[in-house]
Amino acid sequence: MFQTDTGGNIKRLPSETRVFLTTLMKQGGPAPDDYLEFTHLVNNLGSESLDDFRAIIADALTENTLIGHAYVKPFGYPGDFTIIRNIYQEHVNPDKRFHNWDRFFQDQAGANAVRNRKQYFLEHCELLEKKNPENPSVLILGSGPATDVHEYLATHPDSRIHFCLIDFDQHAIDFAEQQNSEFGDSVKYFRINVLRYKPTKMFDLIWSAGLFDYFKEKHFAYMINKYYKFLNKDGEFIIGNFSLNNPTKRLMEVLSDWYLNHRSKHDLINVAMEAGIAEENISVDMEALGVNLFLHIRQPG
Ligand SMILES: C[S@@+](CC[C@H](N)C(=O)[O-])C[C@H]1O[C@@H](n2cnc3c(N)ncnc32)[C@H](O)[C@@H]1O
Repeated sequence: MFQTDTGGNIKRLPSETRVFLTTLMKQGGPAPDDYLEFTHLVNNLGSESLDDFRAIIADALTENTLIGHAYVKPFGYPGDFTIIRNIYQEHVNPDKRFHNWDRFFQDQAGANAVRNRKQYFLEHCELLEKKNPENPSVLILGSGPATDVHEYLATHPDSRIHFCLIDFDQHAIDFAEQQNSEFGDSVKYFRINVLRYKPTKMFDLIWSAGLFDYFKEKHFAYMINKYYKFLNKDGEFIIGNFSLNNPTKRLMEVLSDWYLNHRSKHDLINVAMEAGIAEENISVDMEALGVNLFLHIRQPG
């Protein structure tokens, strides 16, 4: 059905574009020399050509590639724990039919920002430990593979932090639990929707990355309001959200049908104020690329 111009919703791509894409398919995805042209093509692709585009690269839109994994959504949603784990591990399928697709994906600003936000988390756990609260406790909303927790505890064997991990995907919880089994009681796991979870204790840091980008404003504000109450004095709620400046936005949408609510610094400040937080307790920071923003909400000391 994709071979001819139907004259309806599906528009056939120009022949030179088809030749270019077919060449990419033969070489397992875009090589570095192709990045500019391929990105330009994707960023300017009209919705009427999307089906034709996806039909030509169909063999890459399978679980053999990272873009394909995100497109297929084997766990029912994009951004599942396996793709996040693979971003952290800089995984590239060694099979030549697919390896350039994964190299291209891992080279994107979006993937680098995900790795940078893990670093940001590690630094904030260190800062917390330096503040030296009595029983440092961290709540993580949408914990995924919990590679961040693993890395922190593995590199800080004397850490006193207790981590409480919330994720609604049992597969993610199972993976996180197995990955962190050596840390025993330092990590607790709860399989539940963050919208429904009711904390039973207070926390010094509440962290969430890769979750609020999926929420519309109403749920974003609801979540701030719900969890802010569980911050100890001098505690912080840090929420990661992709910025409007994410150069990988269109690639994620076109290649993987992966849509996020990108937000500006002002959007984040506004939503926190809508949730009833005083302006002096709100700030916004970013990782090195400025692609992932971090909304900070402080509980005054
Ligand atoms: C993109 S991953 C981020 C994982 C981790 N925070 C990181 O940055 O490495 C998002 C995780 O949030 C979980 N998630 C999404 N919506 C959720 C919800 N409403 N309640 C609980 N977990 C949720 C998903 O299962 C997934 O594991």
